[in-house]
Amino acid sequence: MAVTVGDIRAYKERGEKFVMLTAYDAPSARLLDEAGIPLILVGDTLGMVALGYDSTLPVTMDEMIHHTSAVVRGRTNAMVVGDMPFMSYQGSTEDGIRNAGRFLKEAGAHAIKLEGGGRVLDLVHRLTEAGIPVMGHIGLTPQSVNQFGGFKVQGKTQEAAHQILKDAKDLEAAGAFAVVLEAVPVHLAEEVTRSVSVPTIGIGAGPATDGQVLVWHDFLGITDGKYLPRFVKRYAELGEQIVDAAKEFAADVAQGRFPAPEHTYK
Ligand code: KIV
Repeated sequence: MAVTVGDIRAYKERGEKFVMLTAYDAPSARLLDEAGIPLILVGDTLGMVALGYDSTLPVTMDEMIHHTSAVVRGRTNAMVVGDMPFMSYQGSTEDGIRNAGRFLKEAGAHAIKLEGGGRVLDLVHRLTEAGIPVMGHIGLTPQSVNQFGGFKVQGKTQEAAHQILKDAKDLEAAGAFAVVLEAVPVHLAEEVTRSVSVPTIGIGAGPATDGQVLVWHDFLGITDGKYLPRFVKRYAELGEQIVDAAKEFAADVAQGRFPAPEHTYK
């Protein structure tokens, strides 16, 4: 059965933890769906893990639509969340509404995610009213990396923690159905999770959040291990397996072991 916003809210009501994973193409989405993952985020991490940029800032709306469409085609049940890229909503509420609409109309996504607190509340409210489910994202918001001076833990001072808590409550009041908390101290994530009725989804926010999210290339061991943040757990080492498989293929061809008769048309 296709996962809905109501199903995501119900996890929190039942006190059941859940996960979201990112995906950027159809076969990955099919595999996550087969694993019963309820939420697939087509994150703007696309820029860093798949397109070779060193931040998410260069990612365009057209790139996000292209990859989100592929993910939607690949999955059957999972709910697909399209991530609003940098400058697709920062300029004006009207830009935000038009671009969020593209995710649903052109790509077939079921919800959108956007970064920030106070400055996006009007947009969250307008989108929710227009029938577009919104996932908030606060704490370390990578689109503001230049303002933060790097990918740093947020909410470490009392004032900053207070602001994050306020942003979470305001996002809930504006209609967000869930809120991603990225790179914040454990006690703050606990307090936010306790203080809002919508699910929190953590990444680098400790164990208290209602859900957890990881990025495809990180959790499968494809990202270069040198650049991994400490909150990533690698559940497979596909990177090593891919290198080994490519070497074995090259060696088989060099030594005449491939193609064998069973791979050949008579
Ligand atoms: O873009 C992304 O993949 C994200 C997750 C890390 C939450 O925002």
